[in-house]
Amino acid sequence: MSYEASKKYPMQPVPFHVLKMQEEIPDCYTLTLQPEFNVVSSFSPGQFYMLYVFGHGEVPISVSGNSFEMGTLMFTIMTIGSVTKALCSVCVGDVVGVRGPFGKGWPLEQVKGRDVLIIAGGLGLAPLRPLIYHLISHSADYGIITLLYGTRTPDMILFQDELASWDDRDDMRVFLTVDSAGSEWHGHAGVVTELIEKIGIDTVRTTALTCGPEIMMRFTAHALLGKGLAASDIYISMERNMKCALGHCGRCQYGPHFICKDGPVFAFDQVEYLFKVREV
Ligand SMILES: Cc1cc2nc3c(=O)[nH]c(=O)nc-3n(C[C@H](O)[C@H](O)[C@H](O)COP(=O)(O)OP(=O)(O)OC[C@H]3O[C@@H](n4cnc5c(N)ncnc54)[C@H](O)[C@@H]3O)c2cc1C
Ligand code: FES
Repeated sequence: MSYEASKKYPMQPVPFHVLKMQEEIPDCYTLTLQPEFNVVSSFSPGQFYMLYVFGHGEVPISVSGNSFEMGTLMFTIMTIGSVTKALCSVCVGDVVGVRGPFGKGWPLEQVKGRDVLIIAGGLGLAPLRPLIYHLISHSADYGIITLLYGTRTPDMILFQDELASWDDRDDMRVFLTVDSAGSEWHGHAGVVTELIEKIGIDTVRTTALTCGPEIMMRFTAHALLGKGLAASDIYISMERNMKCALGHCGRCQYGPHFICKDGPVFAFDQVEYLFKVREV
């Protein structure tokens, strides 16, 4: 199927083969996928694709790399259930189905000229990585970039070499924390919101972008509001099960929003009231 046809039939997965497969941390792999016939369509950092493993099913996965110019797409996937397990068990050369990109990504235009505070929890760093690539390759357009990253344990820290190289940059600061660690860990221990207390934030100039488990984003947003950030200057990336990814089936409904079409990235003032309702 041609690229034009794939836009015309957005429910139809397009075949991509697995070019590379890399274990990042236990049970978590980065897949580099290359289209069998098409060119890769451009995407915005924070957007996601539907990945289909034949005989298993289809799941939403965010883009985690910047290999678009090489004509490939990268996804970092954690084994959770049957489809993600099948995705993490593919071999180089295998074919998977790909549809997308879908959704609204990170607000690149709104953060121009501002300090950017990125707060990631666990696998939440993966959908933020293309954003970080964008910010550092257009650093003249942005103020100070600060990354706060928390994981459960040191062996769950993703992209360790890149974190070190980002921290070496003059225009970027990186702070890490883990929930718990042995004596080999000399960094901060505690939840990621504790780092917010430790860094200076210019609340007028800063936009915060956060991705991680929902409970982590809830505490993060409240800590930022407590610091004086406006709810409209805090963005979160939401997750729900999905089917169509096109705003048709209602599977991903979140209050009046469809996460696949209206999100996954939302300004916190759009969804703050839903965070107070249980089981939405
Ligand atoms: C917009 C979007 C982007 C995403 N990006 C990524 C990504 O970049 N990398 C990635 O690994 N995953 C990502 N996910 C999550 C991924 O889609 C789910 O992990 C996947 O759908 C689970 O399917 P499964 O068949 O493997 O597990 P299922 O059989 O569907 O689920 C197994 C168990 O895990 C629970 N579960 C399902 N999803 C999650 C979840 N997200 N967190 C915690 N528990 C869950 C289920 O309730 C069930 O109990 C994203 C989700 C969305 C909506
Ligand atoms: S997945 Fe169908 S409406 Fe969002």
